[in-house]
Amino acid sequence: MKKILVTGGLGYIGSHTVVELQNEGYEVVIIDNLSNTTIDVLDKITSITGIKPAFEEIDLKNKEAVKHFFKYYDVDGVIHFAASKAVGESVHEPLKYYENNITTLTYVLQEMVDNSVSNFIFSSSCTVYGQADELPITESAPTKPAESPYGATKKMGEIIIEDTSKATDLKAIALRYFNPIGAHETAKIGELPIGVPQNLIPYVVQTAAGIRECLSIFGDDYDTVDGTAVRDYIHVVDLAKAHIAALNRLLNGENKANCEYFNIGTGTGSSVLEVVNTFEKATGKKVNYKIVDRREGDITAAYANTDLANNELGWKAKLNLETALASAWKWQENQ
Ligand code: UD1
Repeated sequence: MKKILVTGGLGYIGSHTVVELQNEGYEVVIIDNLSNTTIDVLDKITSITGIKPAFEEIDLKNKEAVKHFFKYYDVDGVIHFAASKAVGESVHEPLKYYENNITTLTYVLQEMVDNSVSNFIFSSSCTVYGQADELPITESAPTKPAESPYGATKKMGEIIIEDTSKATDLKAIALRYFNPIGAHETAKIGELPIGVPQNLIPYVVQTAAGIRECLSIFGDDYDTVDGTAVRDYIHVVDLAKAHIAALNRLLNGENKANCEYFNIGTGTGSSVLEVVNTFEKATGKKVNYKIVDRREGDITAAYANTDLANNELGWKAKLNLETALASAWKWQENQ
């Protein structure tokens, strides 16, 4: 049985990936510092899969603790989620983002190299493309200057990994996520809302639940189907499965370069208004909304060309927007 370290394994995408790894017969050990989640997620994972994953409460900024971990655990691969992800916060606290997302990445990679652990999956983001010149976005689209320190950490993370893969035995896959949404069908794990949501789906869901009065739609004068901005919303369970496909590729030696990049999206763009309408249709719940000014730093449209992931990883998103939104609502109702 292959043993996989999942950093940030109690977080939103991490917890869903741990479930899929265990379902596929992997042994999982989680590192999490509980900075943006709670320990009961471990019990929720256990109740979904019937297997309790090993867990170490470690802050990856603690270099000695990371060193100890790799001395003690003999892992076959690492899926690295642990990172801060609030775009607005990163603008005000850039050093926190460079330390949490970049310093820690170098510590993990250093221990992997020193302990001959060669398989690495990285959480990257479609944010590296900025506003792409052509849609849908392929992996060969040029990356653009980052709009925020958060975005910069994803771009830099890719560079650090690529450079390390050239100089060492490291084999890496960076998955460039489009917009992850939804929750596990059991509604036992999902995205934990902390404070006022900044992302669209948590805000829609909380508005429908009466926690927020009214959704502000940021701009209706974009050059899109209805004027509102377009994104590629991918169900978190589909996204979790993409990590298994990427890991299998590395473990089976099927990778074609030491560092590879894949877009992980559905291939379909949806406007904000389409999301709201689909949510109402899927749940029967009304979402109050008003149109306000554009949000600074937002792009007009982004959706993935997923041919490379489909062909090379043998992975394809299976769950549609309506299913994803219904699962987000079920998760909210379960809170
Ligand atoms: C954002 C980040 C992206 C990051 C991702 C993580 C920016 C510019 N991008 O993506 O780098 O990887 O979160 O989850 O911040 N919207 C509203 N009203 C709201 C919230 C959002 O109209 O209250 C709109 C936005 O303008 C956007 C769409 O909904 O058009 C999606 O927004 P969001 O969920 O925040 O994701 P992104 O901005 O695409």
